[in-house]
Amino acid sequence: MHHFHYKNESLHCENVDLSSITDTYGTPTYIYSAQTFRDSYQRLDKALAEIDHEISYAVKANSNIAILHLLKELGSGFDIVSAGELYRVIAAGGDAAHCTFAGVGKTDEEINYALDQGIYCFNVESIHELEVINSLAKAKGIKAPVALRVNPNVDAKTHKYISTGKAENKFGIDFEAIEGAYAHVAANLDSLEIKGLQMHIGSQLTQVKPFEEAVNKVLSLVRMLKDTYAIEFFSIGGGIGIVYEDALASGQQSWWDKQTDEQRPLTPELYAERIVPLLKPLGLKILLEPGRFIAGNAGVLVTECLYEKSGKSKSFRMVDAAMNDLIRPALYEGYHQIVPFKQSQISDKTLIGDIVGPICETGDFFCQSVELPNIERGDYIALMSAGAYGFTMASNYNSRPLPTEILVDGDEFKVIRKRQTFTDLIAGESV
Ligand code: LLP
Repeated sequence: MHHFHYKNESLHCENVDLSSITDTYGTPTYIYSAQTFRDSYQRLDKALAEIDHEISYAVKANSNIAILHLLKELGSGFDIVSAGELYRVIAAGGDAAHCTFAGVGKTDEEINYALDQGIYCFNVESIHELEVINSLAKAKGIKAPVALRVNPNVDAKTHKYISTGKAENKFGIDFEAIEGAYAHVAANLDSLEIKGLQMHIGSQLTQVKPFEEAVNKVLSLVRMLKDTYAIEFFSIGGGIGIVYEDALASGQQSWWDKQTDEQRPLTPELYAERIVPLLKPLGLKILLEPGRFIAGNAGVLVTECLYEKSGKSKSFRMVDAAMNDLIRPALYEGYHQIVPFKQSQISDKTLIGDIVGPICETGDFFCQSVELPNIERGDYIALMSAGAYGFTMASNYNSRPLPTEILVDGDEFKVIRKRQTFTDLIAGESV
């Protein structure tokens, strides 16, 4: 569910007409709905009410400090993957003591910064990393809190670039080796404090089964770690998928009611129904690291149509956003529903073609060979479900300034990141 919809024939976010934003701030621009962030967070939080849990929002999905602040106000902790993300959390008013630090390649500088800030826990991905964290903590005369990430060797059934829980992936410590790794910490690494166990099998999971399978696989391990090392938490990672297909309609109850059981997306309620009974008897704090579920449907990327072209075999609409602004279609063949600002432009879809950006690459497209909305130069469209892994993956490729980000809340909106200027573009460079 989200808060993008047509009102009086024009596309709105909450109570704000999107064209009132583009009139002032131009395009390409990311527009987020504060209420959608709140709803998703609270829905997941409520679904898990039966167990002691903490949501550690995966900052990588959307790291604007206004968004982090909003989530912190709701009570969220944060899952970070770099010192830069920790810096952002702190800048947003968040507390390092509610941050977990994941990632296979933390640098010494990053580890030292996180130790100095007093994070809750490092989620450690190799024995070698454990040894480095141990020696850096020892040099400071402190103990570093650690959890080991187990690779359960489970197929998440998602895109191969975002599947992380198979033995051939670079993530975590092999299931067969994990007990030995904990024993090594306890026997030899005295500047580490064992806090928990972590697992994350992949992103954009649309079925509950792989989660169930992975949790079932590690349950006896978790019980053993609780008995032997008195761990305080078990993190089950992120990965709950969202609806991309028909994303606009999916914001409405009527759409939901029409879906069959097979069509219905993985919901927090179903996730909780299957996972909570497995976790509750453990009597541990359960951490979750959702990114996409919280942010994905809370944002759109809006763009203006620049040109029309009818080629020999196809029609094109050139827009002013490109793969540098939203790379998901190019990188994962990710689908984002394309919705015109004016509802009337949906009605007579007759033309098959591509919507493409200005970048000099054939991979710079937002859709290919689909029925195009009836748009021409000067018209606007929204790329739906772009709130997660949209702006955070944007780059300056082709020396294109990063887009504006705007947060809508009810009747109001504010700029939460200004469009980059040419001066920003060359900042730090010299001749
Ligand atoms: N925890 C860990 C350790 C992760 O690696 C990730 C995502 C998450 C949590 C959050 O997963 P989520 O709940 O958002 O699925 N750029 C890709 C997604 C990459 C996900 C990377 N790790 C995309 O646009 O689809």
